[in-house]
Amino acid sequence: MGILDKHKIIEKNATLLLVLSLLVVSIGGLVQIVPLFYLENTIEDVEGMRPYTPLELTGRDIYVREGCYLCHSQMIRPLRDEVERYGHYSLAAESQYDFPFQWGSKRTGPDLARVGGRYSDTWHVDHLRNPRDVVPASIMPSYRWLEKKIIDGKYVADSLKANAAFGRAPYSDEMIEMAVADFRAQVDPNADTDGLQSRYGAAADWGGKDVNVRNFDGQPELTEADALIAYLQMLGTLVDFSTFIPDASR
Ligand code: HEC
Repeated sequence: MGILDKHKIIEKNATLLLVLSLLVVSIGGLVQIVPLFYLENTIEDVEGMRPYTPLELTGRDIYVREGCYLCHSQMIRPLRDEVERYGHYSLAAESQYDFPFQWGSKRTGPDLARVGGRYSDTWHVDHLRNPRDVVPASIMPSYRWLEKKIIDGKYVADSLKANAAFGRAPYSDEMIEMAVADFRAQVDPNADTDGLQSRYGAAADWGGKDVNVRNFDGQPELTEADALIAYLQMLGTLVDFSTFIPDASR
């Protein structure tokens, strides 16, 4: 009996085919899934990744509230066209402090995973106010109220505390205690930012660079536009890809 004839027995017997298919699929599944239970962490540690500053975290909340993810993804796939357009493909570690993650599934607009530093703050202010002013053919809606909405960081310490309590980001007691001060310091170039930088900047243990400190929206008031632009300008800039080497052992 040739191999094809033997196979005929399976193909002609629906129940046997079903049982054997399930067996093969479960072995395949187990081989993929079981090892994950024995790993402490499936995300490789990457130098430079740090929890968001209180201002960036607030900006992220605004990004989620406004539904920016409905048109923008934040995940660069390891495909040539994407890497050439947007930069190094996204690492799991880059969204490790994102709850919920902002990978997105729709790109009406471009991917934003590495938009940080690509444009000036003024460009963002103009673009959020009226996208057509800077990109004439844009179909992105206007978010003109963001620069008018003054915020004081009243709940930002609670937000850090909640993230820490659920194990989402390693915010220390000191970071929570200083949250409002750090929130204000990040938009004030004249403020004493040593504390902010010692917690999130180059002096901290994250192995990264200093936090961007400036008046992001150019107005004297601290507004939602400041927070959102601080978040956008940080996106994709935490890991230094000129020195990054993927850990092939994982
Ligand atoms: C209805 C879909 C839509 C929504 C919602 C939307 N955008 Fe956009 N966005 C676009 C499109 C289309 C473009 C490309 C044209 C342009 O630059 O305006 C774009 C471009 C951008 C760019 C420039 C990206 C680049 O690399 O050139 C940024 C930054 C941006 N959007 C941020 C945001 C933020 C922040 C929000 C939420 C407050 C948002 N967008 C909401 C459609 C959208």
